[in-house]
Amino acid sequence: MERSENRDYRPEMHFTPKKGWTNDPNGLFLKDGVWHLFAQHNPLSPKWNVGMHWLHATSKDLLTWKDQGLALAPEEKLGSIFSGSAVIDCGNTSGLGKGGDPIVLMYTSHGEYEQQSIAYSNDGMHFIPYSGNPVIPNTEKIDFRDPKVFRNDILDCWTVVLAAGDHVEFYASKDLIHWDKTGEFGREEKGLGGIFECPDLFPLRTEDGEEYWILMSSMLLTFDFGGSRTQYFVGEFDGRTFRQTVSAPNPLMVDSGYDNYAQTTFFGTSDKLMMGWAANPGYAGVVPTGEYRGLMTYARRLSLVKTKCGIRLAGKPVAPESSLTAHFSVPQGRTPEGWMKPEKAEAKLKGELFNIRVETDGPFVLVLSNPEGDILRVALDNSHQFTVDRSESGIKDFSDLYESGLMSVAKTERLLDGPVTLDLYFDHMIAEIFADEGTFANTTLVFPKEPYTEVALLGSGTLWTED
Ligand code: FRU
Repeated sequence: MERSENRDYRPEMHFTPKKGWTNDPNGLFLKDGVWHLFAQHNPLSPKWNVGMHWLHATSKDLLTWKDQGLALAPEEKLGSIFSGSAVIDCGNTSGLGKGGDPIVLMYTSHGEYEQQSIAYSNDGMHFIPYSGNPVIPNTEKIDFRDPKVFRNDILDCWTVVLAAGDHVEFYASKDLIHWDKTGEFGREEKGLGGIFECPDLFPLRTEDGEEYWILMSSMLLTFDFGGSRTQYFVGEFDGRTFRQTVSAPNPLMVDSGYDNYAQTTFFGTSDKLMMGWAANPGYAGVVPTGEYRGLMTYARRLSLVKTKCGIRLAGKPVAPESSLTAHFSVPQGRTPEGWMKPEKAEAKLKGELFNIRVETDGPFVLVLSNPEGDILRVALDNSHQFTVDRSESGIKDFSDLYESGLMSVAKTERLLDGPVTLDLYFDHMIAEIFADEGTFANTTLVFPKEPYTEVALLGSGTLWTED
């Protein structure tokens, strides 16, 4: 029996399945002003199950999603449909188009072995598995999945990066059907450790025009780093393989929170936009959300920022517009510890979909609370660390892991100096928090027993809320 649910946590502006289970976002693309999203999906229960499908949804604004039903279902011969990606096959290189460029989905057929298959569509709604699948066969490797395909302008071909256990592999093709291996990365440069999943590879430029390639990969079972997290490497791609050229003392993580996994980028956009599964694989199967489980993050527009610690990936969310009102707090001097006397700025919160902004020069604590005593804290301390603390944020006993100290508090070093602008986007159970041009990003799931109704800023600065 599933836990009896406390209340409805379904977000308003984030993708969720109507019923059943959802994990990774798959096959993200933009065509003719419509955003397409596919999701790993089990239609039969709100639990992961090996019989994965792809659920299709579309959106005009990346915030509200229309369910378009199942796009791919398990196949008798090749198995179920694990994660993958999509491209618009410009020029019909595959020959699968009829009267135009087809959409080609590339996914992992998960059967006795994991192999890569494709499916195509000429109307963007109906997807037909290719009769010659698999296009990248495998009868050796246990882990061999999550193909992310992109147009390779360096060699004028298609390239796919996929996860192969303790490393990623690259393959190239002229027609999306015949593939040759061109390289590998990660056997030495593991970073977080764990098993590579859902890799992605794309170029980005810094503000002053320097180009770097980002190799991003989710890492399953990285217990030294709080379960499963997504890391990235900064380097170069010669058309065949990736090489890390910028090293950092610690592994670089895409999100400092514990609830952003399997991020992947959209095909067909001029800016790089990324979306993730807002969950942690360690407890995603037991969160108290009722007849469905799983949601996606807001899409994030990615950039590269030169920080005092080096080049870092940054993201800003595509979030609902809001008009904010200022509430000022006045600095009242310092305590012996150097902390501003906590003169508060306070405001009421309306509803469960809201944005909050903090502008300040110094350390602060932002507190969201409700009459039940649930508290979500976001802070910047004197040693330049951002903290997101959900240890008292609401229901936690659905999972030992979620409840444990390991995943209650996320601390992250600040990468820029000067005044801070921090934005918190909240939607029922998800807080997405950004600061410092998006070099600080934290996605956190919380399950307050009642909606948060109040917000307070401790420390000097301005608190902005929606009236
Ligand atoms: C990541 C993942 C992928 C796999 C899919 C199966 O969450 O484990 O590696 O393709 O989920 O649902």
